[in-house]
Amino acid sequence: MKGSRGDGWVTRFGLIMAMAGNAVGLGNFLRFPGKAAPYGGAFMIPYFLALLLVGIPLMWVEWTIGRHGGGFGHGTTPGMFHRLWKHPISKYLGVFGVLIPAMVGVYYVYIESWSLGYAWLTATGQYWGRTSNDAMKDVFTTYLGIGGEGPVSFPLQAYTFFLITFVINITIFALGISKGIEVVAKYCMPTLVVLGVVLMVRVLTLPPMDGRTIGDGLAQIWSVRDWSVLLKPDIWLAASGQIFFTLSVGLGMIHTYASYLRKHEDVVLSGLTACATNELVEVVIGASIAIPAAVLFFGVAQAQQIAEGGTFSIGFFALPVIFQQMPGGQFFGTIWFLLLFLAGLTSSMAMFTPLLVFLEDELQLPRRKGVALVAVMVFAMMQPVILFMKHGLVDELDYWMGEACLVLFVAIESMVFAWIFGMKQGWEEMHQGADIRLPKIFYYIIQWVTSTFVLLIVVWWLGGSFKDKLMMAGVPPESRPFLWLARIMMVGMLIFLLAGIHRAWKTHPKFFETVEKEPIEP
Ligand code: ALA
Repeated sequence: MKGSRGDGWVTRFGLIMAMAGNAVGLGNFLRFPGKAAPYGGAFMIPYFLALLLVGIPLMWVEWTIGRHGGGFGHGTTPGMFHRLWKHPISKYLGVFGVLIPAMVGVYYVYIESWSLGYAWLTATGQYWGRTSNDAMKDVFTTYLGIGGEGPVSFPLQAYTFFLITFVINITIFALGISKGIEVVAKYCMPTLVVLGVVLMVRVLTLPPMDGRTIGDGLAQIWSVRDWSVLLKPDIWLAASGQIFFTLSVGLGMIHTYASYLRKHEDVVLSGLTACATNELVEVVIGASIAIPAAVLFFGVAQAQQIAEGGTFSIGFFALPVIFQQMPGGQFFGTIWFLLLFLAGLTSSMAMFTPLLVFLEDELQLPRRKGVALVAVMVFAMMQPVILFMKHGLVDELDYWMGEACLVLFVAIESMVFAWIFGMKQGWEEMHQGADIRLPKIFYYIIQWVTSTFVLLIVVWWLGGSFKDKLMMAGVPPESRPFLWLARIMMVGMLIFLLAGIHRAWKTHPKFFETVEKEPIEP
């Protein structure tokens, strides 16, 4: 399966595991319960609609764009868009597919390292005896060093686990697709599923508590108590945003992985399998752990309140409290945090890949130099995220990269694919070498529904929190300079990439070749 760029997927199983691992991440186990719990079962209606009308279609679109661009030697979206749309601006629009994953990776790897740290804290029983939600909040604050006075926090333990996680990530992605990413995904994904099933069985067999059963917990996700919340735009934005994030669409990572496919290799069935695996892990395994356990132990109202406290409240406060009260809790708690770590790792190892591949493919940087440059750049940007954590740099980066730019990029790519490249050509391209033919209805869904749905989301989003976020409404004055620092990092990276695209297109003749070549076996 190796392409002309000297690397590629060795087996189809490895490819599917890597793509599924790219999708399965912290989003499945932390973000999903955090988004779903406040709305209850009503959340699942926009969630499944967005999955069917936007998520799965975009997964096929991204696999197709990736394989098509890879055929011309482009492993990232600037080159891929250039091949879809012969307009000078197209390559610059593709910048988001390199910018977003790299900047999301900057905070994602730190969060991933908390899971490793907490697996250690749990296995060694370090917070045992802190049995209330507030007490666990304190443990979290101390772990991150964000409780004290002064603007800087240097949490030694958290920093050590961050360094370990960072080195693991860089080592894997430096080894490349076949020797690094594919090998890790092949072992980590099945392990992750086994750990998830063990936890799921444990939670589903918990005895009733204070008159509540585990069935009440499951009902919080699977039965609609209040239909009226569906009238709020917020629930639609939250559910669609969750679909994008969990499937990794709009993050540029799927394009890069798919660029290593050869023309005759299937994208339709493989893309669907990756989606199905992600959804199995999210709505079967993920949805059967955190929320049902929280409802069983705390009741619906308190569980909702905890979830509204932030993305990390259920995973890092509520569940450790629960583990301390169940037989074998230390073992199951350790499994929970290891599960989070593996899920995070299989996604984060994809996040810096587009940046590295952009440097290699378009700026002709040798791999060693590319790896060193990426490592230095992202490591430098991670420092303010860690040291000034209490000022909300993670939320700022997540809002602009993981929500705003992501939605914008999804809107751009769906229009470029369906309306500019053209649905007829797009459909043919998608079905080249396909193992199954899609029902024709998806032709029209991709052409009209997906792009319109995404455009609506962009408009809603612009009319919603955008202005407040831009103006930093409600942000304490002492935190503002730090949020500006986060913005400078994002804009700095954007300028670096735009300059890189400008330079690449001026100097390299391959962009003007018009004949697509089948990648050659090295
Ligand atoms: N899809 C990845 C996740 O869910 C980014 O965390």
